[in-house]
Amino acid sequence: MSNEQFLTIILAAGKGTRMKSAKPKVLHCVGGKPMLQHVIDAATKAGSAKNIVVVGFGREAVKNAISDETQIVVQEEQLGTGHAVLQAQPFVQDEDTVMVLCGDTPLLTAKVLKNFFEVHKKEKAEASVLTTIMPNPAGYGRVIRGLDGSVEKIVEHKDATIAERSVTEINTGIYCFEAKSLFAALKEVGHDNAQKEYYLPDVLAILRKAGKKITAVVVDDYEETLGINSRTQLSVAEAILHKRKNEELMENGVTIIDPLTTYVDADVEIGPDTVLYPSTFISGKSVIGAGCKIGPCTRLIDVQVGDGSVLSFTDGEDSVIAAKATIGPYVHLRPNTKIAVGVHIGNFVEVKNSNVGEGTKLPHLSYIGDSDIGAGVNMGCGTITVNYDGKTKHRTTIGDRAFVGCNSNLVAPVKIEDDAYIGAGSTITKDVPAGQLAVARSRQTNIEHWQDKRK
Ligand code: UD1
Ligand code: CA
Repeated sequence: MSNEQFLTIILAAGKGTRMKSAKPKVLHCVGGKPMLQHVIDAATKAGSAKNIVVVGFGREAVKNAISDETQIVVQEEQLGTGHAVLQAQPFVQDEDTVMVLCGDTPLLTAKVLKNFFEVHKKEKAEASVLTTIMPNPAGYGRVIRGLDGSVEKIVEHKDATIAERSVTEINTGIYCFEAKSLFAALKEVGHDNAQKEYYLPDVLAILRKAGKKITAVVVDDYEETLGINSRTQLSVAEAILHKRKNEELMENGVTIIDPLTTYVDADVEIGPDTVLYPSTFISGKSVIGAGCKIGPCTRLIDVQVGDGSVLSFTDGEDSVIAAKATIGPYVHLRPNTKIAVGVHIGNFVEVKNSNVGEGTKLPHLSYIGDSDIGAGVNMGCGTITVNYDGKTKHRTTIGDRAFVGCNSNLVAPVKIEDDAYIGAGSTITKDVPAGQLAVARSRQTNIEHWQDKRK
């Protein structure tokens, strides 16, 4: 690791009792991803060479939920933040610079972390603490400064005197340390305090007494460092990320007609000149191209959309839509659907696990499941692929330029070759060769003098 780099120890072993949840606190999602992953991503973006996550409660769930490159360390018993950091020592070298973060601060940005690290280095400090002024500091550790303004110690809310509690500068729980000093000081930390825990912030007073240099960096915007302990605070974080993401998109050329009803997850990408109409929800790993119109009333989860496509009143999941497609209103795209350039899908159509070729039209009232449809196909109103026989799903294959008459049932497995025609109202159970017309319905009989006979 170069002198310009740091590694992180991210504390995430606690249960998060106040969440009242079976799930570890750090796995609760905001902006569509776990709080802990937000912290890991911010650290990586700020230049962290390695992220070590200390897990305890729900360790398997935490391991499975976060990115693979992360180093996991187990803290068997949660004896305090100081004890948690100690568990990571085997993965740290004496000459490393370590940034300590908490897994429950999803609003942190890479910019703040990068600046914090740079100041720590520039000041040649042994330890630095990131602080902020909190209008309502209850619950946080208070930063106690000496007459010369330097940090003397941090006092936990539960251990603080009335005078100390009136201090509004708080410990954000984010620190930079030179590793050798950190681990030396941690060995001296005791647990003679209100919570009978080994407090990490105690190392600051210990290092100060040993004559080491301590600095503090104050973050202007306290919101960035909010620690989430309850569902109420979770919703506050969600609202902040919601606003932040919309602003980022608008700065990059996306029009959002109604930001209040438009929700876009943190990792979603959207190209310039795309317009998002009201009541639109775009989440997961969705990527939307440039010049698209999305919404109103559209939900996309892990959907890719090519440039210039138009989607309205559409619910889509785990699907890929190429450029210049027009989808909606009232379309349901279920997982593993691939839609080629210029396709039109409209009015009450469901498509699942299917490929739809270039320029094909599925305009009205259809169910298309487990199908491979070629280019330039016209699927008449009400066409149904009969993909399920009660036991197994079967595929339907339709060649290029085929024409399927209205209200047809295509009983899979079945193949309709290029340029074939299907008469309206057919129930097709056999393959249709290229260029042929298949009609599979009973002939019409007209009964003469019917009314006369009835009388
Ligand atoms: C801590 C700080 C406090 C600071 C606040 C900022 C201490 C003693 N206090 O308090 O000064 O203002 O953060 O949010 O550090 N954890 C473990 N193992 C443990 C204990 C905690 O991994 O044994 C993890 C938790 O999962 C959590 C983080 O450390 O992610 C912070 O612990 P928490 O109990 O929330 O500390 P606070 O009381 O908020
Ligand atoms: Ca806490």
